[in-house]
Amino acid sequence: MPITLALDIYGTLVNTDAIKTALPTYIDNKADIFAQTWRAKQLEYTFRRGLMGAYKDFSNVTKDALDFTCKTHNIQISQEDKNALMDKYLALDAFPDVTPALTQLKQKGARLHAFSNGLSQDISKLLLHAGLDNTISSIVSSQDVQTFKPDPRFYAHFIEQTQTTPDSTWLVSSNPFDVIGAAACGWQTIWVKRNPSAVFDPWEQAPTLTVSKLTALVQIAALWERD
Ligand code: 2OP
Repeated sequence: MPITLALDIYGTLVNTDAIKTALPTYIDNKADIFAQTWRAKQLEYTFRRGLMGAYKDFSNVTKDALDFTCKTHNIQISQEDKNALMDKYLALDAFPDVTPALTQLKQKGARLHAFSNGLSQDISKLLLHAGLDNTISSIVSSQDVQTFKPDPRFYAHFIEQTQTTPDSTWLVSSNPFDVIGAAACGWQTIWVKRNPSAVFDPWEQAPTLTVSKLTALVQIAALWERD
Protein backbone atom coordinates (compact mmCIF):
# COMPACT_ATOMS: atom_id res chain seq x y z
CA MET A 1 0.00 0.00 0.00
CA PRO A 2 1.42 3.47 -0.82
CA ILE A 3 2.63 5.44 2.17
CA THR A 4 0.32 8.20 3.36
CA LEU A 5 1.87 11.26 4.97
CA ALA A 6 -0.34 13.35 7.26
CA LEU A 7 1.39 16.71 7.20
CA ASP A 8 0.99 19.10 10.11
CA ILE A 9 1.04 22.70 8.97
CA TYR A 10 1.91 25.37 11.56
CA GLY A 11 5.55 25.06 12.59
CA THR A 12 6.05 21.97 10.43
CA LEU A 13 5.47 23.00 6.81
CA VAL A 14 5.19 26.76 7.36
CA ASN A 15 7.27 28.95 9.64
CA THR A 16 5.21 30.69 12.31
CA ASP A 17 8.25 32.74 13.39
CA ALA A 18 7.20 35.22 10.71
CA ILE A 19 4.31 36.19 12.99
CA LYS A 20 6.90 37.61 15.41
CA THR A 21 8.37 39.83 12.71
CA ALA A 22 4.87 41.07 11.85
CA LEU A 23 4.23 42.29 15.38
CA PRO A 24 3.88 46.07 15.58
CA THR A 25 7.25 47.74 16.13
CA TYR A 26 5.99 49.34 19.33
CA ILE A 27 6.24 45.96 21.09
CA ASP A 28 9.69 45.11 19.75
CA ASN A 29 11.22 44.64 23.16
CA LYS A 30 8.49 42.12 24.10
CA ALA A 31 8.14 40.39 20.69
CA ASP A 32 9.63 37.06 21.78
CA ILE A 33 7.60 36.65 24.96
CA PHE A 34 4.49 38.00 23.20
CA ALA A 35 4.78 35.44 20.36
CA GLN A 36 5.52 32.62 22.83
CA THR A 37 2.52 33.51 25.02
CA TRP A 38 0.26 33.77 21.96
CA ARG A 39 1.24 30.35 20.52
CA ALA A 40 1.09 28.62 23.91
CA LYS A 41 -2.35 30.06 24.70
CA GLN A 42 -3.63 29.28 21.17
CA LEU A 43 -2.75 25.60 21.68
CA GLU A 44 -3.98 25.56 25.28
CA TYR A 45 -7.35 26.85 24.09
CA THR A 46 -7.56 24.03 21.52
CA PHE A 47 -6.81 21.43 24.20
CA ARG A 48 -9.39 22.90 26.59
CA ARG A 49 -12.07 23.28 23.93
CA GLY A 50 -11.44 19.74 22.70
CA LEU A 51 -11.80 18.34 26.22
CA MET A 52 -14.90 20.43 26.91
CA GLY A 53 -16.55 19.64 23.59
CA ALA A 54 -16.81 23.42 23.12
CA TYR A 55 -15.44 23.74 19.57
CA LYS A 56 -14.65 27.18 18.17
CA ASP A 57 -12.70 27.36 14.91
CA PHE A 58 -8.90 27.72 14.99
CA SER A 59 -8.98 31.25 13.58
CA ASN A 60 -11.25 32.50 16.38
CA VAL A 61 -9.28 30.54 18.99
CA THR A 62 -6.19 32.32 17.68
CA LYS A 63 -7.92 35.70 17.99
CA ASP A 64 -8.98 34.90 21.58
CA ALA A 65 -5.39 33.91 22.40
CA LEU A 66 -4.17 37.21 20.89
CA ASP A 67 -6.56 39.17 23.13
CA PHE A 68 -5.39 37.19 26.18
CA THR A 69 -1.76 37.89 25.26
CA CYS A 70 -2.36 41.64 24.92
CA LYS A 71 -3.99 41.73 28.35
CA THR A 72 -1.27 39.54 29.92
CA HIS A 73 1.52 41.79 28.66
CA ASN A 74 -0.50 44.99 29.10
CA ILE A 75 -0.13 45.86 25.41
CA GLN A 76 -2.86 47.62 23.46
CA ILE A 77 -2.94 46.63 19.77
CA SER A 78 -5.36 48.38 17.46
CA GLN A 79 -8.01 46.27 15.72
CA GLU A 80 -6.33 47.20 12.43
CA ASP A 81 -3.00 45.81 13.67
CA LYS A 82 -4.74 42.71 15.05
CA ASN A 83 -6.38 42.13 11.64
CA ALA A 84 -2.96 42.49 9.99
CA LEU A 85 -1.50 39.88 12.35
CA MET A 86 -4.33 37.47 11.63
CA ASP A 87 -3.82 38.04 7.88
CA LYS A 88 -0.16 37.12 8.35
CA TYR A 89 -1.32 33.72 9.66
CA LEU A 90 -2.75 33.15 6.17
CA ALA A 91 0.50 34.01 4.41
CA LEU A 92 3.30 32.18 6.16
CA ASP A 93 6.23 30.94 4.09
CA ALA A 94 7.19 27.28 3.82
CA PHE A 95 10.48 26.24 5.37
CA PRO A 96 13.09 25.97 2.58
CA ASP A 97 13.33 22.16 2.84
CA VAL A 98 9.59 21.58 2.38
CA THR A 99 8.99 22.00 -1.36
CA PRO A 100 11.97 19.94 -2.56
CA ALA A 101 11.24 17.19 -0.05
CA LEU A 102 7.50 16.92 -0.72
CA THR A 103 8.04 17.07 -4.49
CA GLN A 104 10.46 14.13 -4.31
CA LEU A 105 8.29 12.16 -1.89
CA LYS A 106 5.30 12.61 -4.20
CA GLN A 107 7.42 11.39 -7.14
CA LYS A 108 8.25 8.32 -5.03
CA GLY A 109 4.55 7.59 -4.71
CA ALA A 110 3.80 8.93 -1.24
CA ARG A 111 0.27 10.28 -0.76
CA LEU A 112 0.49 13.77 0.78
CA HIS A 113 -2.35 15.27 2.83
CA ALA A 114 -2.45 18.40 4.96
CA PHE A 115 -3.65 17.50 8.47
CA SER A 116 -4.34 20.55 10.60
CA ASN A 117 -6.33 22.24 13.32
CA GLY A 118 -6.71 25.13 10.91
CA LEU A 119 -9.84 25.84 8.89
CA SER A 120 -9.80 24.26 5.42
CA GLN A 121 -10.10 27.64 3.70
CA ASP A 122 -7.21 29.02 5.78
CA ILE A 123 -4.98 26.03 5.07
CA SER A 124 -5.87 26.28 1.39
CA LYS A 125 -4.72 29.94 1.35
CA LEU A 126 -1.55 29.00 3.21
CA LEU A 127 -0.70 26.19 0.77
CA LEU A 128 -1.33 28.51 -2.19
CA HIS A 129 0.89 31.23 -0.67
CA ALA A 130 3.60 28.65 0.12
CA GLY A 131 3.44 27.19 -3.40
CA LEU A 132 2.39 23.78 -2.08
CA ASP A 133 -1.15 23.66 -3.46
CA ASN A 134 -0.21 21.37 -6.38
CA THR A 135 1.91 19.06 -4.23
CA ILE A 136 -0.52 18.33 -1.41
CA SER A 137 -3.59 16.49 -2.66
CA SER A 138 -6.09 17.22 0.10
CA ILE A 139 -6.74 19.02 3.37
CA VAL A 140 -8.13 17.24 6.40
CA SER A 141 -9.20 19.92 8.88
CA SER A 142 -10.31 19.67 12.50
CA GLN A 143 -13.40 21.68 11.57
CA ASP A 144 -14.77 18.48 9.96
CA VAL A 145 -15.03 16.83 13.39
CA GLN A 146 -15.46 19.96 15.59
CA THR A 147 -12.53 19.09 17.85
CA PHE A 148 -8.73 19.47 17.84
CA LYS A 149 -5.51 17.46 18.02
CA PRO A 150 -4.74 15.25 19.93
CA ASP A 151 -8.38 14.08 20.12
CA PRO A 152 -8.35 10.47 18.78
CA ARG A 153 -11.53 11.24 16.85
CA PHE A 154 -9.60 13.62 14.60
CA TYR A 155 -6.94 11.00 13.78
CA ALA A 156 -9.70 8.44 13.10
CA HIS A 157 -11.37 10.97 10.79
CA PHE A 158 -8.12 11.35 8.81
CA ILE A 159 -7.91 7.55 8.32
CA GLU A 160 -11.51 7.47 7.13
CA GLN A 161 -11.18 10.50 4.84
CA THR A 162 -7.99 9.28 3.17
CA GLN A 163 -9.04 5.60 3.11
CA THR A 164 -5.81 4.41 4.60
CA THR A 165 -4.78 2.35 7.65
CA PRO A 166 -3.05 3.51 10.85
CA ASP A 167 0.07 1.40 10.26
CA SER A 168 0.59 2.80 6.74
CA THR A 169 -0.02 6.39 7.82
CA TRP A 170 2.89 8.55 8.89
CA LEU A 171 2.24 11.71 10.88
CA VAL A 172 4.78 14.42 10.10
CA SER A 173 4.79 17.11 12.78
CA SER A 174 7.04 19.43 14.77
CA ASN A 175 4.56 19.33 17.66
CA PRO A 176 5.22 16.53 20.22
CA PHE A 177 1.58 16.62 21.40
CA ASP A 178 0.55 15.79 17.82
CA VAL A 179 3.17 13.03 17.43
CA ILE A 180 2.07 11.44 20.73
CA GLY A 181 -1.61 11.75 19.77
CA ALA A 182 -1.00 9.96 16.46
CA ALA A 183 1.21 7.27 18.01
CA ALA A 184 -1.55 6.57 20.55
CA CYS A 185 -3.82 5.83 17.56
CA GLY A 186 -1.36 3.30 16.09
CA TRP A 187 0.16 5.56 13.45
CA GLN A 188 3.81 5.72 12.47
CA THR A 189 5.21 9.12 13.44
CA ILE A 190 7.96 11.49 12.36
CA TRP A 191 8.93 14.29 14.73
CA VAL A 192 10.36 17.20 12.77
CA LYS A 193 12.73 18.66 15.35
CA ARG A 194 13.25 22.02 13.71
CA ASN A 195 14.38 23.65 16.96
CA PRO A 196 17.56 21.84 18.15
CA SER A 197 16.70 22.68 21.77
CA ALA A 198 13.15 21.32 21.53
CA VAL A 199 12.37 18.61 24.10
CA PHE A 200 10.06 15.68 23.41
CA ASP A 201 7.64 14.92 26.26
CA PRO A 202 8.70 11.94 28.45
CA TRP A 203 5.53 9.95 27.67
CA GLU A 204 4.98 6.30 26.78
CA GLN A 205 5.01 7.12 23.04
CA ALA A 206 8.28 8.01 21.30
CA PRO A 207 8.48 9.11 17.63
CA THR A 208 9.12 6.36 15.07
CA LEU A 209 11.70 8.69 13.50
CA THR A 210 13.14 12.11 14.37
CA VAL A 211 14.47 14.39 11.62
CA SER A 212 15.49 18.05 11.59
CA LYS A 213 14.34 18.66 8.02
CA LEU A 214 11.86 16.99 5.66
CA THR A 215 14.60 16.36 3.10
CA ALA A 216 15.82 13.54 5.40
CA LEU A 217 12.56 11.70 4.59
CA VAL A 218 13.56 11.31 0.95
CA GLN A 219 16.39 8.98 2.00
CA ILE A 220 14.05 7.09 4.32
CA ALA A 221 11.44 6.76 1.56
CA ALA A 222 13.48 3.87 0.13
CA LEU A 223 12.57 1.93 3.30
CA TRP A 224 8.91 2.47 2.58
CA GLU A 225 9.32 1.36 -1.03
CA ARG A 226 10.54 -2.01 0.23
CA ASP A 227 7.43 -2.47 2.44
C1 2OP B 1 -1.76 22.20 13.26
O1 2OP B 1 -1.41 22.69 12.16
C2 2OP B 1 -1.67 23.47 15.32
O2 2OP B 1 0.34 22.93 14.17
C3 2OP B 1 -0.96 22.51 14.50
O3 2OP B 1 -2.74 21.47 13.43
